[in-house]
Amino acid sequence: MLDCLQLLHFHIGSQISAISVIKEALREASRIYVELAGLGANMRYLDVGGGLAVDYDGSQTSFYASKNYSTQNYANDVVAEVQEACRVKGIAVPTLISESGRAVASHQSVLVFDVLGSSDAPSNDEVEVPGEEDHAILREMYEIYQNLSPKTVQELYNDAIQFKEEAISLFNFGYFSLSERARAERLFWACCRKALSVVSHADYVPEDIEELHQSMASIYYINLSVFQSMPDAWAIDQLFPILPIHRLNEEPSCRGTLADLTCDSDGKITQFIDLRDVKHVLELHPLELDQPYYLGMFLGGAYQEIMGNLHNLFGDTNAVHIHMTPKGYQVEHVVKGDTMTEVLGYVQYDAEDMIENIRRRSELALHDNKITLEESQLLIQHYEHSLSRYTYLV
Ligand SMILES: Cc1ncc(COP(=O)(O)O)c(C=O)c1O
Repeated sequence: MLDCLQLLHFHIGSQISAISVIKEALREASRIYVELAGLGANMRYLDVGGGLAVDYDGSQTSFYASKNYSTQNYANDVVAEVQEACRVKGIAVPTLISESGRAVASHQSVLVFDVLGSSDAPSNDEVEVPGEEDHAILREMYEIYQNLSPKTVQELYNDAIQFKEEAISLFNFGYFSLSERARAERLFWACCRKALSVVSHADYVPEDIEELHQSMASIYYINLSVFQSMPDAWAIDQLFPILPIHRLNEEPSCRGTLADLTCDSDGKITQFIDLRDVKHVLELHPLELDQPYYLGMFLGGAYQEIMGNLHNLFGDTNAVHIHMTPKGYQVEHVVKGDTMTEVLGYVQYDAEDMIENIRRRSELALHDNKITLEESQLLIQHYEHSLSRYTYLV
């Protein structure tokens, strides 16, 4: 059936960031193609699969979150390699087919989410001066705080860590009270803040001190599940551009990492794109009381929504389909995200049965005078209402 063989297809993997890898694969595939034609196959099509990468970090390098070629380079190289192999063997060039997924779909989606709150590193409280009667550790730590300078920072920061650990040991063995431990910790954070400020204009910052940015960063709690909406950030450390989408005329003066709604300690984002490296904190604005704060995750149009999972029963998010028009944009569809009834259904719980169960139990409780009629009605109403609602906080 050699005459039936018309198409050669290959796919070398996704997000191929180096053009050299693509060229090599193409050379081999083109050689196989022309050899098959030489063996008598009726070859007409060469399908070069996917793999065309997306430049997530904008660095235009072969770093895994980028690519060192443009789409035009890619097209030129595909055509040139195949053409050359065919020319050498004197056979007709094939119809080329490509299956690029990521490069086509990534830009088509933006995930918008809000921040629910933040927890901040210990703030700029006044540093409490220890007295003569206080434990030597507290006095030593205060002295470190006073003497921190660009020249002493590394040595004194290490000393501060040691004293903090000693304070905790003293507490564990019963020689330090809880308030003494708290004072030692406050002094330690004051040393960290000062260490960062004294190196802020230094040409070289020791790595340990640099990492303090991360330990001192705030945690911003975001209204999503990383497992549902950015699974690759969790599973394969994929980097996505994430940034505030408003208040852009204000300096983002805070540094933070992101933690999601799930109870899972992996439900966080602590790696962010940076032009030259990966950074561990994101520039964010201080939250304002009762004001929403929205962030956007970009370039997630390929794979994220589809691969997202129901961990902790957080379902599909609401989606809006936007059509770009010459005048701007048009909202084409609003697709509501999953309700609690829907996600419970995916794991074989029937909402009607659950409501019936609660109704029966509240009936019994009513009978035993454990709740009032109003309470029982309120409970059932609330339960029914909750089941019909979105799985995220609204
Ligand atoms: C056979 C095949 N073709 C094309 C693709 C799309 O790949 P990409 O999104 O990297 O372009 C895939 C995905 O892995 C694939 O398995």
